[in-house]
Amino acid sequence: MSVLENEKRVNLASLSIDELEKMAQVRRPKPVPSNLERSNYELPEEYRDVSRGKRYYIRTYGCQMNEHDTEMMSGLLEGMGYQQAGEIESADVILFNTCAVRENAEDKVFGEIGRLRPLKVQNPELILGLCGCMAQEKGVQKFVLDKFPWVDVVFGTHNIHRLPELVMTAKNSQDTILEVWDKAAATVEDIPKVRKQETRAWVNIQYGCNKFCTYCIVPYTRGAERSRMPEDIVQEVSQLAAQGYKEITLLGQNVNDYGVDLGTVTFAKLLRLVNDVKGIERIRFTTSNPWNFTDELIDAIAECEHVVEHIHLPVQSGNNEVLKKMNRTHTREYYLSLVDKIRHKIPGVSLTTDIIVGFPGETDEQFEDTLSLVAQVKYDNAFTFIYSPRENTPAAKFEDGVSQETKKQRLQRLNELQYAVSLERNQTMQGQVVDVLVEGPSKTNQEVLAGRTRTNKLVLFEGPLELSGGLAQVAVTEPQTWLLKGELVSRHKEALV
Ligand code: SAH
Ligand code: SF4
Ligand code: F3S
Repeated sequence: MSVLENEKRVNLASLSIDELEKMAQVRRPKPVPSNLERSNYELPEEYRDVSRGKRYYIRTYGCQMNEHDTEMMSGLLEGMGYQQAGEIESADVILFNTCAVRENAEDKVFGEIGRLRPLKVQNPELILGLCGCMAQEKGVQKFVLDKFPWVDVVFGTHNIHRLPELVMTAKNSQDTILEVWDKAAATVEDIPKVRKQETRAWVNIQYGCNKFCTYCIVPYTRGAERSRMPEDIVQEVSQLAAQGYKEITLLGQNVNDYGVDLGTVTFAKLLRLVNDVKGIERIRFTTSNPWNFTDELIDAIAECEHVVEHIHLPVQSGNNEVLKKMNRTHTREYYLSLVDKIRHKIPGVSLTTDIIVGFPGETDEQFEDTLSLVAQVKYDNAFTFIYSPRENTPAAKFEDGVSQETKKQRLQRLNELQYAVSLERNQTMQGQVVDVLVEGPSKTNQEVLAGRTRTNKLVLFEGPLELSGGLAQVAVTEPQTWLLKGELVSRHKEALV
């Protein structure tokens, strides 16, 4: 694999990590000073409590960023007086916060919107809205206007804070209200949030993505990379600590590029700032791109007491030709040496990844490279996907002679390998005593408590309900592929104060 670098062909596979890192500085989009305005949100007085007694329901698809956007939409609607509905049928406002990353996610949403038509017929006052990443797609906007005229409002990822106005306008209009901005006009701070969980909270640190991997729609649906100001982030984390949250997850599509646009701060520095906030026990972050994963960042993760030993490091493929066609900017060799470096400096680190199989033209041999990389890295877990062509992305135009059947078989082989590796990794924990941040009764079995290790492994164990929201020490007695079963050794809530 090679790239043109200053008129000269460079063989990436032959370069050392340091040389690759130097190139990263050259090849990365130039830092653009973020001249976006920063504004503080305030719910306009005329919308406060106007919908008292009414109910809302939001169905969320996609990634953590969407889940967090839903928390903001809930905050805005509750500011208007809406309360959360127990089930979709009893809601006066229904929002679909959508994901566009793969086709099947989109199909599901269209199916659901179709099924809601009778509700709209029963209750003409019902406001039905489509938002999130699908709403940013021109094709989807047109499709909704043509095929689902009972949708009242369509808005995008850049104008969530406009929700109160949009709901009120939709209420008074017979037409579908369409308000989708192509890009963010400002970084809007202080949007109210109704958080879904009581122990763990999401914190946005960066919006958008500049990477333009050839298969991916996210740069088009979320716009250019923008970092939040470090002081705003630290302030939000301090408030969360004061409210009793124990864990935060810093969110961005490429968190290790955090601050590139600001020019005054790096992600490593941000981790150190957040680590100093008293009361927060665990700091997670997602997603970090393998590219530009600097030594400064590895050291910060290793040295910051509250930053956990878990890195989600999406590789996508183990073959250099495929990686190049994906515009992933890392090579197999760079990735493997990065993994070595991380494992050396962060003992006990858990690594997870995302992998796409059946990228256009992927050969059997190229797929085998992915299998061998998975066997070599020994991920704790992997999220695996069959490539899904996305409209207007470069890869959608690449030639692809590989049948869907072959792609499905590849996915199955990959999953079987990963399940075996996950079990093997978990079995090494047999007998270990782990710190578990207890979330509460397990969703699948109310008799046991569920929580997570610092490395993000799910642990189930018997214990008193009042442990919820605190730390406990649990001995691993029965490691399985997806979770660890264990026995309570001691509660040590005092560690949190
Ligand atoms: N910013 C993250 C990824 C966000 S999207 C990163 O770069 O690591 C989450 C995952 O969805 C990706 O890592 C990729 O594995 C998968 N994905 C994205 N586009 C896809 C497509 N067109 N088909 C199949 N999977 C896709
Ligand atoms: Fe998509 Fe690549 Fe950006 Fe991740 S880094 S969001 S995969 S374009
Ligand atoms: Fe997330 Fe899906 Fe959008 S993965 S950023 S909700 S396209």
